[in-house]
Amino acid sequence: MSKIKAAITGVHGWVPEDILTNKELATMVDTSDEWILTRTGIKERHILKDKATSEIAVHAVNGLLEKTNTSPDEIDFLICTTITPDMVFPATANIICDKCGIKNAFSYDIEAACSGFIYSIATASKFIESGTHKKVIVVGVDKMSSIIDYTDRQTCVIFGDGGGAVLLEPNKDGVGIIDSIFQSDGLGAAHLHMKAGGSLKPASHETIDAKEHFVYQEGKVVFKFAVTKMADSAIEIMGKNNITSEDMDWLVPHQANTRIIEAVAKRMNIPKEKVMINIEKYGNTTCGTIPLLLWEWENKLKKGDRLVMTAFGGGFTWGSIYLKWAYDPK
Ligand code: UT7
Repeated sequence: MSKIKAAITGVHGWVPEDILTNKELATMVDTSDEWILTRTGIKERHILKDKATSEIAVHAVNGLLEKTNTSPDEIDFLICTTITPDMVFPATANIICDKCGIKNAFSYDIEAACSGFIYSIATASKFIESGTHKKVIVVGVDKMSSIIDYTDRQTCVIFGDGGGAVLLEPNKDGVGIIDSIFQSDGLGAAHLHMKAGGSLKPASHETIDAKEHFVYQEGKVVFKFAVTKMADSAIEIMGKNNITSEDMDWLVPHQANTRIIEAVAKRMNIPKEKVMINIEKYGNTTCGTIPLLLWEWENKLKKGDRLVMTAFGGGFTWGSIYLKWAYDPK
């Protein structure tokens, strides 16, 4: 019998109802539907009005509990990964547990920007593999609209709100999380960050006037790193596990830009039919992109399918996970 692996046994996603189209953005900043679509692949994104990030998470987690017939009491650990927590502290994970009636778990947030979901899956899987925890939820969510300057055309066209949650459980059938590769490099902070609101520059009238509570991104620099690092780590994990592009069933890439995804797939020699892409509907939801992909593709995934998830984000952070899907469509 093989040793315990952590397997994803359910997934659920949620996006808010309100949609912000490229056409509407073109009335707000100097841009066009054509520029956004050809340079990013995005047609529209969902925007959460009035409520906080935990609202997205609560919908995703409650839906997940319902569809997997899991009682909130059975959950023993919950990780939330987000860069837009409800508050600086406490952790949004604690708030989610409270709102979902999860009372027998410990919970905390992981912050690794766009790599947060795969970092969190790897973290959760270690608790399951060690035998200490049996039902773990990882929720990746962001309300990016809360940190976006809607007068800055370089960033406001890219991001959206949404996310999803997965349930991880022990499995001995040889399916589940097989391997992971991660790295980070703090030198990347110069190219992608939010200047104020932390201990370096607490909120003040000056920081607000200088618009320092918004995402700052040097798009071109980030683009180049994203292609190289996602492709390198995905190729490395395939080599380490002796999988060829023919063996692989699905590439599950972070959704930052269709051109990044296509360049990564090309370097990996993966045909586009095997690449999950839904950026056109949601934009870049940061920690939410990969769970939203798994949610939308759940009905196409079969037990034993080989998936490589890969991501790159602020930090810089990057990495890949190789997993075998654990269940057939229900
Ligand atoms: O998820 C975490 C990591 N984030 C990423 O991976 C994002 C990586 N970066 C990107 O996706 C792309 O760099 C962007 C989508 C952000 C920008 O696309 P780009 O092709 O790199 O454009 P650029 O910044 O080189 O700008 C090209 C031109 C510039 O005009 P000039 O200087 O050539 O006259 C920009 O001012 O496009 C202009 N531009 C726009 N024009 C219309 C920039 N944003 C817009 C816009 N609408 N929204």
